[in-house]
Amino acid sequence: MKSENPQETPLDPEKLPAHVAMIMDGNGRWAKKRLMNRVKGHEKGSQTVRSIVTAARELGIGMLTLYAFSTENWSRPRVEVKALMMLLKRFLVSERDELMGQGVRLNILGQKEKLPVDIQREAERTVQMTQNNQGMVLNLALSYGSRQEITAGVQTLAEKIKTGLIQPVDITEEMISDHLYTRKMPDPDLIIRTSGEFRLSNFMMWQAAYSELFVTNTLWPDFTKDEFIEILINFQERDRRFGKVKCSTSNDGSPQ
Ligand code: IPE
Ligand code: IPE
Ligand code: MG
Repeated sequence: MKSENPQETPLDPEKLPAHVAMIMDGNGRWAKKRLMNRVKGHEKGSQTVRSIVTAARELGIGMLTLYAFSTENWSRPRVEVKALMMLLKRFLVSERDELMGQGVRLNILGQKEKLPVDIQREAERTVQMTQNNQGMVLNLALSYGSRQEITAGVQTLAEKIKTGLIQPVDITEEMISDHLYTRKMPDPDLIIRTSGEFRLSNFMMWQAAYSELFVTNTLWPDFTKDEFIEILINFQERDRRFGKVKCSTSNDGSPQ
């Protein structure tokens, strides 16, 4: 869906990324800087989630993926995990009307079965309710880990080989993509990480093969629509070559 007010930003609507993914990091440090409990940082961070979902929708982004909870985040202190789950539940319930109003379709990527049952139920309700929405797709990565995702996909493929459904030589890159949580989705064109950390932290390691990466020092609770637009402008100025030669007219390997 294209922006409702494209003239409001200097963005080229023809060159918008189809899929933007965000590693929402820095909630704890945001709270620590203010001598507050980490949970306060998560609360403020969930407000940023709301504003960035709306911003992405207004800017005409087709798909937004938010990395909200990793497979490793289960190892955090019990009280913090509990608080994160409570905020997640609150988001899933309180944002239903907003998501419906904005025509946003929700998907969950990750080990849904590991989430507390009440959250599974609320997530399922919101996913069902929004499934016919035609606006932006919002993916929440919850109990998500790239290694777990790839491992589960390999197990399913191995089962198919065992039962004779496919042969090892039949396995293609597309088939592997089809056995990930992101099946049928475009790979992220742009991955933004807040809080200045230059790592993927087990996020979309297969899908990120040719993603443009952008790291900002801004902590997630301070991230704004204006900075998002600046990053999108930077994205639009980049030269994505996908291993080819810029402005190539020859494919015979001769120097351009
Ligand atoms: C991101 O903020 C939220 C989650 C990973 C759930 P952090 O909680 O990781 O914040 P920092 O990195 O400790 O500042
Ligand atoms: C990555 O942040 C996971 C999410 C944003 C959900 P972390 O804070 O867990 O990552 P590390 O520990 O700094 O790599
Ligand atoms: Mg962190």
